[in-house]
Amino acid sequence: MTRIPHEPPGEPNPLRALTLDRLRHRTSMKWRTYPEDVLPLWVAEMDVPLAEPVVRAVTEALELGDTGYPSGTAYAEALAAFAGKRWGWDGLAVERTAVVPDVMLGVVEMIKLVTGPGDPVIVNPPVYPPFYQFVTHMDRRVVEAPLGADLRIDLDVLEDAFRRSVAGGGRAAHLLCSPHNPTGTVHTAEELAAVAALAERYGVRVVADEIHAPVVAGGVRFVPYLSVPGAERGLALMSASKGWNLAGLKAALALAGPAAAADLARMPEEVGHGASHLGVIAHTAALRDGTAWLDALLAGLDDNRRLLTGLLAEHLPGVVHHPGQATYLAWLDCRALGFGDDPAKAFLSRGRVALSSGIPFGTGGAGHVRLNLAASPEVIEEGVRRMAATRNGTHDGPREQRP
Ligand SMILES: Cc1ncc(COP(=O)(O)O)c(C=O)c1O
Repeated sequence: MTRIPHEPPGEPNPLRALTLDRLRHRTSMKWRTYPEDVLPLWVAEMDVPLAEPVVRAVTEALELGDTGYPSGTAYAEALAAFAGKRWGWDGLAVERTAVVPDVMLGVVEMIKLVTGPGDPVIVNPPVYPPFYQFVTHMDRRVVEAPLGADLRIDLDVLEDAFRRSVAGGGRAAHLLCSPHNPTGTVHTAEELAAVAALAERYGVRVVADEIHAPVVAGGVRFVPYLSVPGAERGLALMSASKGWNLAGLKAALALAGPAAAADLARMPEEVGHGASHLGVIAHTAALRDGTAWLDALLAGLDDNRRLLTGLLAEHLPGVVHHPGQATYLAWLDCRALGFGDDPAKAFLSRGRVALSSGIPFGTGGAGHVRLNLAASPEVIEEGVRRMAATRNGTHDGPREQRP
């Protein structure tokens, strides 16, 4: 894997900017699902203020009353420039992109383009739970090809799933998570090329969800699926949503490889109307002018990954954690703690810390939890303290930290 250093951050760590008191004023899912005494380290929202260029662009749009329907290709152009600079990929063709409301609705539309009702969609569990929910909701069938013990794609298992999926002569899609949520695995160029080769051999269409692409650890390089040889018939989804915490400002981009352009062209234009114009403005500003902020975030996440490793070794040595190379999520194997299949329940009820249960992530999820590292170091410390208190059964009551 090519290793590239992060730019030295020219901005302060955004993960240290907000106090818990301030964050508790937020009205989003992360902060309003559980009572106030619960420390939320679950859903993929970040405890950061927005990058200044994003605030400026959205504020200017609001002041102008520029709140109509989205138009034009500025988002795709900003992503193409970002992809060139960041990943050395100059193959993102703006004419083979389309704005979609968000990544998951984009995934649904891409799968609809290449499969029909009842067709199989192959996923690599443990994987982002909505992959199951959206696929079944759109009347497709989930076929699992679990990751290997090393948390990487197992090509033999994938090939077997491809073979079974097309055995009846029907169509099939592979919904690839790249980088992989929840493990933070960054697929290498070789792995992606092998996936593409298998997909071609079995006639399976790959839809790559690359929402976490901007969020990689220092020294790690993300490889876009559409950049690897053999991926010409692939489809991908990208967004500034995870990298800059813009989930509430709806917009994403669907991308087609050269041999999938005709498929993307069949997507009804109306799908793009579901994106928010303010979302498009925000995502465009993030990709175009938000790289210094992103570098500061990534440096902060690197620190938090190291911090978590140390804290777990000290306070919860039974927990197995392979620090990911991407995303701001940590996948923790808690089976040795004796909390059963759903340790998140014990952590919540006794420790008053909310983690994502591993069970909805599919095969390989039982006994695991996912922890959101996009918080201040003090909050991470408090989270692990609460987890350890759950195990010790000390019940000394959670202590609220005020970073
Ligand atoms: C892999 C993956 N895909 C999609 C999403 C959701 O993206 P959106 O809100 O754009 O649908 C997430 C959110 O965490 C994610 O982790």
